[in-house]
Amino acid sequence: MSSDPVVEMQGVDVVRGETHLLRGIDWTVEADQRWVVLGPNGAGKTTLLQLAAAQMHPTRGEVTLLGETLGAVDVFELRPRIGLTSAALAQRIEPGERTGDVVLSAGYAVVGRWRERYDVHDLTRAAMLMQQWGVTPMAHRPFGTLSEGERKRVQIARALMPDPELLLLDEPGAGLDLGGREDLVSRLTDLARHAYAPAQVLVTHHVEEIPPGYTHALLLRGGEVVTAGPLEQVVTQEALSETFGLALQVQRADGRWTARRAA
Ligand SMILES: Nc1ncnc2c1ncn2[C@@H]1O[C@H](COP(=O)(O)OP(=O)(O)OP(=O)(O)O)[C@@H](O)[C@H]1O
Ligand SMILES: [Mg+2]
Repeated sequence: MSSDPVVEMQGVDVVRGETHLLRGIDWTVEADQRWVVLGPNGAGKTTLLQLAAAQMHPTRGEVTLLGETLGAVDVFELRPRIGLTSAALAQRIEPGERTGDVVLSAGYAVVGRWRERYDVHDLTRAAMLMQQWGVTPMAHRPFGTLSEGERKRVQIARALMPDPELLLLDEPGAGLDLGGREDLVSRLTDLARHAYAPAQVLVTHHVEEIPPGYTHALLLRGGEVVTAGPLEQVVTQEALSETFGLALQVQRADGRWTARRAA
């Protein structure tokens, strides 16, 4: 693909007080790539996603998203082009809101804002996305009554509603049971393989959650990139062990990964 990179970070630091949340980050995501970001608690994964979502500015360095450089662009114009799901955003959804409306209202970005009328295109797209993410049967129920797995799928459908050019998923597998995780992985696999789907970045702690069809990985530890690049080159025993500070045995079978403490 010859278009601009979707995400380009050069020499990026994020500093709060004395603490470097991120240090010296160089990272490029192209439109046809699907990235997984792995790292332990506190590594800086959510901070990295906040930058990629135009929700935060770097302290130093340059972040260019969809051809627009942060600091030189109106972020309110940029944000609707980027879909984001995270636990923090889920908390901002009103528990009493009808699930169908949670998806439908996403086109009008700001959480809680309401439009009195939606056009046929919006309604059709919301229905299609709810079908795709398996939440059509819950359309009329309040969001607060859904299970964790259902909420995660509603959030992804909502993030896709404005047809974003970049989709950022911060730990969509957290809190899911085994069946829920496998269901999510297979839906994410379909999305990853779809030629017209947006560029995707998935943050997780678990290599078991890497959907087949993902192409690249970035390993983060203590705010710094351990290694980044094509998935097979990056998700290795050595690099994962270094990232998590623990000797790990890593295996790949049928396009799926597993990791456990080395014997
Ligand atoms: N405003 C702040 N001031 C100081 N430290 C902060 C601030 N915000 C975040 N941090 C710290 O920065 C580090 C990185 O946070 P971040 O949320 O990006 O990590 P993470 O990789 O997403 O972790 P987790 O896997 O637990 O979600 C953490 O140690 C966090 O406590
Ligand atoms: Mg996080």
